[in-house]
Amino acid sequence: MSKKGLPIHLSKEDMARLVKVGLLHDVGKAKIPPQIINKPGKLTDQEFEIIKLHPVFSYEIAKKSNEKDIDILNGIRGHHEKINGTGYPDNLRYNEICLFARITIISDIYDAMVSKRVYKDAHSPFEVLDEFSQGRFSNLDMELVNAFLSNMPIELLDKFVLLSDGSIGRIIYINPNNFMYPIVEAQGEIILTNERLKCVSMYNA
Ligand SMILES: [Fe+2]
Repeated sequence: MSKKGLPIHLSKEDMARLVKVGLLHDVGKAKIPPQIINKPGKLTDQEFEIIKLHPVFSYEIAKKSNEKDIDILNGIRGHHEKINGTGYPDNLRYNEICLFARITIISDIYDAMVSKRVYKDAHSPFEVLDEFSQGRFSNLDMELVNAFLSNMPIELLDKFVLLSDGSIGRIIYINPNNFMYPIVEAQGEIILTNERLKCVSMYNA
């Protein structure tokens, strides 16, 4: 696997600004009642309307804390928009959604999927990359999705995973045409994972 994925040409400064969007985009959730944020079951329409306020709350909190960078502010506010205009809070379309928001939309979905929540278990990164590659998440900037799919596997190389038989393996190859079943090394053996022996989760020693 190449050590370099598709570039999206961000300068170091832009990367630092993007990290700020990543850190602050959900800070507004602190203003949403915890019983809605932590509700284990399906949200009612009314509860979802309240959840939909959080990008604006995050934007306002960042603004109040003296953030003046308009790209950072718009990145925070726009992280739940969709390129066909059906997202929230402003129903923006593709070219109205700033680059930082379009990137954060993708990383936010990935993070939500690989994280355990009160209402769902964590998915393995391989499962999630596979779902991205199959277009399961619609209305994203496909150029950025392709850059993500080309770069993210590189980050996972050499990392440890828990296999479904309880053993620990190290990722040595991720096939870009089959994210679901990477090749791992476990107890000195090279294993092509499959439906019966798969990566369950990342393993942090
Ligand atoms: Fe959010």
